[in-house]
Amino acid sequence: MGKVPRILSWRNMLVLSLAVNFSLILRILKGTDGGNSSYVVSIWPVVSNSLDRTVYGDSKWPVVSTTASGSSSLSSASCTYNETQEDDHRIINLKLGDPMVYERYWQEMGHMTTMVIAGWQSLSYFSDNNNELCWFLEPELAKEIVRVHKVVGNAVTQDRYIVVGTGSTQLYQAALYALSPHDDSGPINVVSAAPYYCSYPLITDCLKSGLYRWGGDAKTYKEEGQYIELVTSPNNPDGILRESVVNRSEGILIHDLAYYWPQYTPITSIADHDVMLFTASKSTGHAGMRIGWALVKDKETAKKMTEYIELNTIGVSKVSQLRVAKVLKAVSDSCGNETAKSFFEHSYDAMFERWKLLKQASKTTKGFTVPDFASQRCNFLGKAFEPQPAFAWLKCEEGIVDCEKFLREKKNILTKSGKYFGDDLSYVRVSMLDRDSIFNTFIHRISSSFNSTL
Ligand SMILES: Cc1ncc(COP(=O)(O)O)c(C=O)c1O
Repeated sequence: MGKVPRILSWRNMLVLSLAVNFSLILRILKGTDGGNSSYVVSIWPVVSNSLDRTVYGDSKWPVVSTTASGSSSLSSASCTYNETQEDDHRIINLKLGDPMVYERYWQEMGHMTTMVIAGWQSLSYFSDNNNELCWFLEPELAKEIVRVHKVVGNAVTQDRYIVVGTGSTQLYQAALYALSPHDDSGPINVVSAAPYYCSYPLITDCLKSGLYRWGGDAKTYKEEGQYIELVTSPNNPDGILRESVVNRSEGILIHDLAYYWPQYTPITSIADHDVMLFTASKSTGHAGMRIGWALVKDKETAKKMTEYIELNTIGVSKVSQLRVAKVLKAVSDSCGNETAKSFFEHSYDAMFERWKLLKQASKTTKGFTVPDFASQRCNFLGKAFEPQPAFAWLKCEEGIVDCEKFLREKKNILTKSGKYFGDDLSYVRVSMLDRDSIFNTFIHRISSSFNSTL
């Protein structure tokens, strides 16, 4: 205190300290509440504009921290295993594809996707009076969907109808409703090649619809007449790029392209199919916003899908649509930014590091295998690479018959058994999308001898 100039008496210091503390308390209160009746969806600073009302020029683009090795904090830094954190008895759950790997990127980009939505907004059921077809689709979302597909080059949007849904899960059901014959010919069979996405049979049969029913593995499907085939590409659970396997003229196809994004697979061509389903859950990691979109070639099909969503939920949350529009805008903007890595480059790096560690672990322990993928050139990233899927389709070796049981009982790792995907008990699906700490624990546990218990 002796060095403080005399002009600052203890009274001055007291007033100054009170003022600083008061302003800090005010900032904390504002940050957690947002004030008035507005709904603040992030704790980052906000500047107003049209959609979110936030504008950021290139110069303000946040820089995601980079490690000494030159890779982003989303990738290698996150994959450093810390022994002291490990508790071998803690159960880790990798059953679901909860996309938490993206959390850190969006935290660092936080202010870019902040939105303030006032209480007087989003009152109406209607979003776009000019859209005769999907009247609940927010025009801003439609614009950003078209833009992101153009930027990435992964799907045709020209002359396509966009139908928005509460996740692509709702759109899947809308597509079944739209594509099934509505006469009295009985339920149409819905098939997909095993291993197929485990939710398809459950969703298809949950209401015991008179319009459609689960028909099983497309590879062994022999029935005559019309059928619906689901083509998931890249596939959940095994990450393989797929085409229709039944391949008959009576087939009606639904393409689920949830994972056709450059962090998971090389973008080798612009997908151009009759019904293509996409979702924010896997493209940007915003599963909790529950937004999916369908790109549909045929107007009548798009109309029928819209009709289903009208009957089912009278539209789709406007708040969620606006938030996804904002996120997609940030993604597309990041791709045009020359001073920082794009969202896809960051997420590609994160997935690359994870797959590198998993493959290493597989080589070392020999207790399990993961699929081998061929490298292909990605038109978007401008380089060749092997697919690095959102899930690992892991096969237990060394005589382990029930892989799910083994991992659960011996390694405290919860996974989804191959039986739910129409496949063998020796397989499990493991999420590659969880937070760093969980993923690192997973790698650590499976790297130790496969025959030893933890
Ligand atoms: C292939 C596939 N389609 C659809 C979905 C569901 O997506 P949404 O969260 O948009 O309902 C998933 C989720 O795991 C998926 O793997």
